[in-house]
Amino acid sequence: MDASRKTYHAMARFLSSTAFVTDVFNVIILIAGGLFLYSDKITFGDYSTFIVSVNLFISPVNTLINFMEQFQNGVSGFKRFLEIMDVQPEYEQPNARALTDVKGQIDFKNVSYSYDEGREVLHNVNLHIEQGKKLALVGPSGGGKTTLCHLLPNFYRLEDGSGSIEIDGQDIRSLTLDSVRRSIGIVQQDVFLFVGTIRDNIMYGRPDATEAEMIEAAKRANIHDYVMTLENGYDTEIGERGVKLSGGQKQRLSIARVFLKDPRILILDEATSALDNTTEVLIQHARDELCKGRTTLVVAHRLSTIRNADEIAVVINGAIREQGTHEELMALDGTYKKLYSLQFRENDIFE
Ligand SMILES: Nc1ncnc2c1ncn2[C@@H]1O[C@H](COP(=O)(O)OP(=O)(O)OP(=O)(O)O)[C@@H](O)[C@H]1O
Ligand SMILES: [Mg+2]
Repeated sequence: MDASRKTYHAMARFLSSTAFVTDVFNVIILIAGGLFLYSDKITFGDYSTFIVSVNLFISPVNTLINFMEQFQNGVSGFKRFLEIMDVQPEYEQPNARALTDVKGQIDFKNVSYSYDEGREVLHNVNLHIEQGKKLALVGPSGGGKTTLCHLLPNFYRLEDGSGSIEIDGQDIRSLTLDSVRRSIGIVQQDVFLFVGTIRDNIMYGRPDATEAEMIEAAKRANIHDYVMTLENGYDTEIGERGVKLSGGQKQRLSIARVFLKDPRILILDEATSALDNTTEVLIQHARDELCKGRTTLVVAHRLSTIRNADEIAVVINGAIREQGTHEELMALDGTYKKLYSLQFRENDIFE
């Protein structure tokens, strides 16, 4: 809004001053010519000629003025185009191999990471998740849980010398991005849906899936029944111009996507926002179903999620403070126990 306001101000100034200058020509010619005509300095023919020719002169000037605005728009559009063209494509090692036959063992080895120069978000994180096991990350907001999850699919690239992340014992930097991402399914903290139909949004998980597979995924994600209540079913448009889905429905839709994708490795970043109990149960069921047989890294904000985990890691200020099973951590009588009892008080949610 601020930018538009400035643009219109500038345009108003520019257009009104140029209009003033061009119009003032006519006024001067009319008055001066009138005076000259009155004192017989020029003939009536001269007078008319002047009026016609000044307008002949002004019209290309006006064209030029209008062109200026178009020109400015074009230049700024072109600049934005150049900015996009200048973005570096994601880096992949020239000799990167494809990750095949994924088993799903995950290792974080001495991983440190900073988004911006100087401020480290993760410090020397070590994690090991066995094939098919479930590790829950818990901890206060801003601790670095989401960051940890986003490093696994190589969304952010680890610097050389700041540790390594391995899938089945292979450094993800030596693997092709495509093959790594194909083997990982993510349910994000903030679900991102595209403008389009519900079908489009589920099929995004695996574009070559059949209609039956898509419906099967929706059923397993507990969203099929809801979709059937809509007039257009799977062809219902969502987003600004279509139906607005609730937080819980969006999450189930994104779970359906991952069911369709059927990856070996799963990243679940639970939403912090509270949902009503019925929705929560629906999502919990879908999520549990999704985890079966997959290596899972889950950011847990809910008690029920922690209960199902094989191991729990407490992430505080970018470091893992405590790690172990629920019983082990409770016996430690440390941060986890505090977080755990806090959670009970605060209605099943951290923070
Ligand atoms: N894209 C980014 N650019 C710069 N800094 C970021 C970015 N994303 C997160 N951070 C910073 O990294 C730190 C860890 O953030 P992260 O999102 O990993 O926390 P979190 O543990 O997932 O928190 P929550 O429980 O609230 O989701 C925070 O201090 C945050 O400000
Ligand atoms: Mg987060």
